[in-house]
Amino acid sequence: MIRLSSEEQAYLSGAFGPGAQQAMEIIVALGRIYSAERLVPVGSVQVAGVSYRNLGEAGLDFLRRWAAQGAQVRVPTTLNPAGMDLTAWRELGFSEEFARRQQEVIAAYRRLGVRTTCTCTPYLAGNRPGLGEHVAWAESSAVSYANAVLGARTNREGGPSALAAAITGRTAAYGLHRDENRRATLVVEVRCPVRSQADFGALGYLVGQAARNGVPYFVGLGDEVSAVSLKAIGAAMAASGAVALYHVAGVTPEAGRHIIAPDHRTMVVDDLRPAYRALDSATRSIDLVWFGCPHAGLEEIEEVVRLLDGRRVRTPLWITTAREVRRRAVEEGLVAAIEAAGGRVVSDMCAVVAPMRELGFRTLATPSAKGAFYLPSHAGVQVRYGDVRRCVEAAVRGSWPE
Ligand code: F3S
Repeated sequence: MIRLSSEEQAYLSGAFGPGAQQAMEIIVALGRIYSAERLVPVGSVQVAGVSYRNLGEAGLDFLRRWAAQGAQVRVPTTLNPAGMDLTAWRELGFSEEFARRQQEVIAAYRRLGVRTTCTCTPYLAGNRPGLGEHVAWAESSAVSYANAVLGARTNREGGPSALAAAITGRTAAYGLHRDENRRATLVVEVRCPVRSQADFGALGYLVGQAARNGVPYFVGLGDEVSAVSLKAIGAAMAASGAVALYHVAGVTPEAGRHIIAPDHRTMVVDDLRPAYRALDSATRSIDLVWFGCPHAGLEEIEEVVRLLDGRRVRTPLWITTAREVRRRAVEEGLVAAIEAAGGRVVSDMCAVVAPMRELGFRTLATPSAKGAFYLPSHAGVQVRYGDVRRCVEAAVRGSWPE
């Protein structure tokens, strides 16, 4: 039985308007399904469901109707990537028609009061929750980062439930909002070297398959763990499984023996090759080299600049990143360096939800396991999967270096 405060009851009875009433109905319905006893206030929300390619007219209408009912977000709310760069779309080859529809989606979110940040790394663009803070985030890689690396508490929200949490400022206290569900269910002993971003993604791919929606606890990851590698491993586990929280011994804030459930399973990983085989295809020609899945931080852009070492690319090279990070990259001369090499630092978008085939891309190279996992089925492109160095070489040579 879910207990509601008088303010929450008022939402439900329509005192704050029909849009807010509908939002509270969604939150309470989810709470009942998952046997929550109460709602909790959330500090921020990350909303997904932005690309017009995924939303279509039905999704756009849904957003417009909610906005027309007067619904407004009441907590800081950021937005996932769209299907194109909102300003440079024309130079990148997007059609007028797609751009018009995509801008309408963005306008609908803006009317709801959402900050149209269009990034899957809100934690690099001003929305960075603290340890123990309850939030309601959609976007599986961001959820994983928030829970595991920042120690915030969020379930893996869907588009409508995240927006409902933003409009009410509440979410139902079930799942990962509760201590007992944050305990590790799968202890992963890592017994092989895991060094590059692609290695971390490959490890995440294997563990995500085994863990499904459980909570892995990594031991033996060594000194190579960084914010970038945690982003990569979390995104991969969220893609191949439905992992929303993990712990790394000696690294993540909640890791400690007390966090391991007594009935946990154990898994040993001593070989990453099965993951590389699963994520990689045999194509040699590459139409696009893509970095920034999840969206790149400054250090990732810097690494590409360093590896390019003044050389020009033969194949288009895109780095996707938050607009805020791009602004800093401009200040530091990184965007100029990428552009001097013939590449692009692109904001607001994700290649998985972009119309890649309409843009003429049939094959793509990436060091992102999440990207490699989704691109073939979602964007209809073949993928070469390898570390950042190899992907840079592919861009310079114009083909995959064997
Ligand atoms: Fe972000 Fe798209 Fe990758 S949302 S995590 S760039 S698949």
